[in-house]
Amino acid sequence: MGTVEATKTEESAAGSSARRDALSVTDQRTGRVYELPIVNGTVRAMDLRQIKTGPEDFGLMSYDPAFLNTAACTSRITYIDGDQGILRYRGYPIDVLAEKCTYLEVAYLLLYGELPNKAQYAQWVHDITYHTMIHESLKKVMDAFNYDAHPMGMLISTVAAMSTFYPEGHNVHDASVRAKQAHRLIAKMPTVAAFAYKHSMGMPYVYPSNELDYSENFLTMLFKTPAENYKPNPALVRALDVLFILHADHEQNCGTNAMRGIGSAHTDPYSAVAGAAAALYGPLHGGANEEVLRMLLEIGSIARVPAFIEEVKQGKGEKRLMGFGHRVYKNFDPRAKIIKRMATEVFEVTGRNPLLDIALELERIALQDDYFVKRKLYPNVDFYSGLIYEALGIPTAAFTVLFAIPRTSGWLAQWEELLEDPEEKIARPRQVYLGPGERVFVPMERR
Ligand code: CMC
Repeated sequence: MGTVEATKTEESAAGSSARRDALSVTDQRTGRVYELPIVNGTVRAMDLRQIKTGPEDFGLMSYDPAFLNTAACTSRITYIDGDQGILRYRGYPIDVLAEKCTYLEVAYLLLYGELPNKAQYAQWVHDITYHTMIHESLKKVMDAFNYDAHPMGMLISTVAAMSTFYPEGHNVHDASVRAKQAHRLIAKMPTVAAFAYKHSMGMPYVYPSNELDYSENFLTMLFKTPAENYKPNPALVRALDVLFILHADHEQNCGTNAMRGIGSAHTDPYSAVAGAAAALYGPLHGGANEEVLRMLLEIGSIARVPAFIEEVKQGKGEKRLMGFGHRVYKNFDPRAKIIKRMATEVFEVTGRNPLLDIALELERIALQDDYFVKRKLYPNVDFYSGLIYEALGIPTAAFTVLFAIPRTSGWLAQWEELLEDPEEKIARPRQVYLGPGERVFVPMERR
């Protein structure tokens, strides 16, 4: 790579038809031609820096607010083809994993790159199961929240507080220390989430039980009371486990980008997961599942669906059809397809949620409407998930918490990959400064 004169590039282009993985760029300011290598369908932004008008010039940068076309890392974890509607974890199609695996098997796959054999799985389940308890002092931290605290706010703060309970987690360069913190985080997220729910209900916390598997244990901590026994319906346990699989990772989304950004400063994983969960909290991200339910309730009846669609279209981006659209998928979100199918199975147990009919009608009209068709807006993972959470008896405010629990394994897999990446450095984007040049200070009495 390097600068070559224009004539030389033209000669070689004419003289040889051999394909070169390179991009030729002509800087019209100077007439110079540069050849930038193309590797894995990308050019390196740093290769632009050599493009200068003179020795004083800083060099060209790429400008990409919101990372619309910038790969910030290489990864071997999750593959998405947004046009085809394909999602794979470590090469396995999401629908196969959803059909054949448990969430913990998938969490292992994400973290270690391979599906576990029997012995590995037994050890893994043991390691997770025996880290589900939380410190009693952490419980007191949770007690201090107001009765109406949002469960996501509680989850984010409590996970951040966990970094003070496990100070060895700061040693992010030791792989065995990292593995231990991963066990703790994956194990304790459901406990913290369930305690947040119980706190909001003014009910006593239900401690985890080592006899129960991951999702059954979570439902039990949510819905058991000291007054009576509780045994969740196995079909609902399985539905929750599948939802956990579908939400476990989704490559470089907003929350995962936050995880990698914070992790790149070598911050401990509890603080980094808290930051990633904070990003997930937003209504354009994981918070959308909560917003979908509010939207369906606002619409209220099938008859009002066309008027609502019209409001969205007239709103020109101000009012959105929540649970629709995706930065990457310009086709059906494959997770939404699985969740839609699963909703029918869940409703066989719980009874049909009347909001489903409103959702189906919204989907039907939107998929035919030019506004949505032109913009390639399809239902995403959040469109139907809230309906299932509601059928499971989970309050709307806790929906995003149910996203954060399984996404923890994805965040940790991405964090692990980041720390093992030889190209890893602290994330530090550039900016294009458009503010004033140097100004003369004016004392307050003269302003
Ligand atoms: N309803 C109506 N119009 C929409 C929607 C929507 N849900 N989503 C995008 N648009 C329009 C948008 O107004 C814009 O129109 P125009 O070209 O006329 O300006 C066009 O489609 C492109 O939108 P964008 O904002 O540039 O797209 P983006 O890739 O930046 O945003 C998104 C992706 C998911 C934030 C967005 O589609 C959205 O806000 N959806 C609703 C919230 C939602 O369901 N979020 C969950 C995402 S999936 C779970 C997760 O990964 O967190």
